[in-house]
Amino acid sequence: MINDKKVLFSGMQATGNLTLGNYLGALKNWLTLSDEYECFYSVVDMHSITVRQDPATLRKRARALLTLYIAAGLDPRKNCIYYQSHVSGHAELSWILSCFTYMGELNRMTQFKDKAAKHADNINAGLFTYPVLMAADILLYQADVVPVGIDQMQHLELTRDIAIRFNNVYGDVFTIPEAYVGKVGAKIMSLQDPVKKMSKSDENPNGSIYLMDDPDTIMRKCKRAVTDSESCVAYRDEQPGLKNLINIYCACTEKTPDEAVKEFEGRGYGELKAAVGESVVSILKPLQDEVKRLEKDKAYIDSIIKENAQKAGYYAAKTLRKVQRKVGFPDRIR
Ligand code: TRP
Repeated sequence: MINDKKVLFSGMQATGNLTLGNYLGALKNWLTLSDEYECFYSVVDMHSITVRQDPATLRKRARALLTLYIAAGLDPRKNCIYYQSHVSGHAELSWILSCFTYMGELNRMTQFKDKAAKHADNINAGLFTYPVLMAADILLYQADVVPVGIDQMQHLELTRDIAIRFNNVYGDVFTIPEAYVGKVGAKIMSLQDPVKKMSKSDENPNGSIYLMDDPDTIMRKCKRAVTDSESCVAYRDEQPGLKNLINIYCACTEKTPDEAVKEFEGRGYGELKAAVGESVVSILKPLQDEVKRLEKDKAYIDSIIKENAQKAGYYAAKTLRKVQRKVGFPDRIR
């Protein structure tokens, strides 16, 4: 608990461009969480280097992501939005936890197997111990809840196992985190293949709307969205392309699918697509304007980065000192 609130921790990688799916499905729903939870949102740049990165690009993207979170409305004085690499406790705790994690457990991680297959020329030890660093992220802040996608569930389970194992030896050191299942955001699918989730790593750029796409690009991608040949506006699983467009429209306009179907009944798909495009522009344009405004305010963003690194560092140090004592490291002489 921090300030009588439960702690929420989430990490995000600054690799790839965030999509409309990330925004409507996750980010937008996080705005109200800071009332209920003490929230930490870490830009996990240390995780990013498990695959080769261009240094300048990584630095730029990390800052862009941090700025985007603020632009989306997360108050950076209530939500601790910070860089993982600015708090050395992540690496320190990660080492200790790695001594409480079995090779066999890490060998079972499906993300490791996938990434090892994808980067066969660079299967480094960091890629293997990636889940331990993630466990350190979460446990360092004594997080109660972690909003994660289904792909990260296995890592969260491992985090719990490590924490329970540690607690069994040393007493109640770590809070055992749980997956955060809150109000689920809209699930946005690819515009080109509407049975697949809209993804920042899609090879087809027309499948995803990126948060920084300009209005023309957004309109073009919506107009080119794959639909069907039924020529009838309906909201049903048999017409996944249309269903996805209606979901996007509803998420952007706060209308219900019924209202949307009524609005477009008897009208062509072209009109629906144009309206979807406009609804997306109407929510992304203000977000982009705010990003641009914040980017110009270098001093403000810098001050946030500094303050939040200190805040995160304070809580991290508390846990780390306790863990170091428990495992038998000598006390510091002051
Ligand atoms: N591995 C997560 C992902 O790729 C990112 C991450 C790192 C994370 N540390 C975390 C997520 C801690 C939640 C909590 O999406």
